[in-house]
Amino acid sequence: PFTPRVFSGIQPSGGLTLGNYLGAMKRFVDMQDEGSFQTVYCMVDQHAITVWQDPEKLRHATRELCAGFIAAGIDPDRSILFNQSQVPEHAQLAWIFNCVARMGWMQRMTQWKDKAGKNQQNASLGLFAYPALMAADILIYHATHVPVGEDQKQHLELTRDVAIKFNHDYGVDFFPITEPVIEGAATRVMSLRDGSKKMSKSDPSDASRINMTDDADTIAKKIRKAKTDPDALPSEAKGLEDRPEARNLVNIYAALADSSVDAVLAEMGGKQFSEFKPILSELAVEKLAPISTEMARLMQDPAEIDRILGHGATQARELATPILKKTYDIVGM
Ligand code: ADP
Ligand code: NA
Repeated sequence: PFTPRVFSGIQPSGGLTLGNYLGAMKRFVDMQDEGSFQTVYCMVDQHAITVWQDPEKLRHATRELCAGFIAAGIDPDRSILFNQSQVPEHAQLAWIFNCVARMGWMQRMTQWKDKAGKNQQNASLGLFAYPALMAADILIYHATHVPVGEDQKQHLELTRDVAIKFNHDYGVDFFPITEPVIEGAATRVMSLRDGSKKMSKSDPSDASRINMTDDADTIAKKIRKAKTDPDALPSEAKGLEDRPEARNLVNIYAALADSSVDAVLAEMGGKQFSEFKPILSELAVEKLAPISTEMARLMQDPAEIDRILGHGATQARELATPILKKTYDIVGM
């Protein structure tokens, strides 16, 4: 009975990385273009402030992220594109979900453990409650599908648990049990400097990631310096087992080329990394340069970006308002 609807978000907590692009944004564009879903995409600024954000940087990063969405192919006439804090229904539903979710569920979240680090007592309450707000982001639209990278899988499971518990506690069949969509060759892009860590905009080492705003020389330099091993590329995927850095570069190539790891290795098997890296750099620049050029162009007109986000927020609220009203009604408020 639920309308096929996609929701996903990205935090404006810094510049976009190749990980965000391949694991999330490129998939968002595919799902928009495929045409079988209504697509709703969000800059999640309320998630970003669970750790400290300088206000001016946050404002800039939110606009830049919006420019990134559009430059990557999200069309504000075909997808709803907006900023989370402009749709207060997210936070309103999140409060109800704070009362549905259990402390134990939150304590098990690996992102909480990673981000809070050793000093949990000093982490923000918002960082702990993050997954309940994420459940609200998704369920305030009755979203049926959520494209995300591998790192968000556990949070999606929690979203499903919230929906199941709410439906059960109130004896309703109101919230959908949302499906994660984790697909493609690059669902988990790793750091270029450490094959055991994911590429992230919040990694202190800039050399660990490719930023969507990096120029061609910077991209080539980062790939040239990326950690690898001395062996040649294998001709089959199983030759990448226990070679996380090598596998990462092949995954990135496959995702950028809209190909599969097997197809890439069939072609590239036997090459040394000294030979493969320039080929990868060339493909990365070919795919990313038009996006960063378009982002820079869009950033010349911040008022237009604000207008797009304002319009998106109005559209988002049209979906969210009746769902929140019905939720309050179910809860007895
Ligand atoms: P970050 O971790 O860079 O701060 P977000 O938490 O805003 O990014 O995540 C936005 C989206 O990008 C999510 O769907 C997330 O799964 C995806 N994503 C983030 N990093 C990666 C990565 N290294 N590989 C694949 N997908 C990623
Ligand atoms: Na993340």
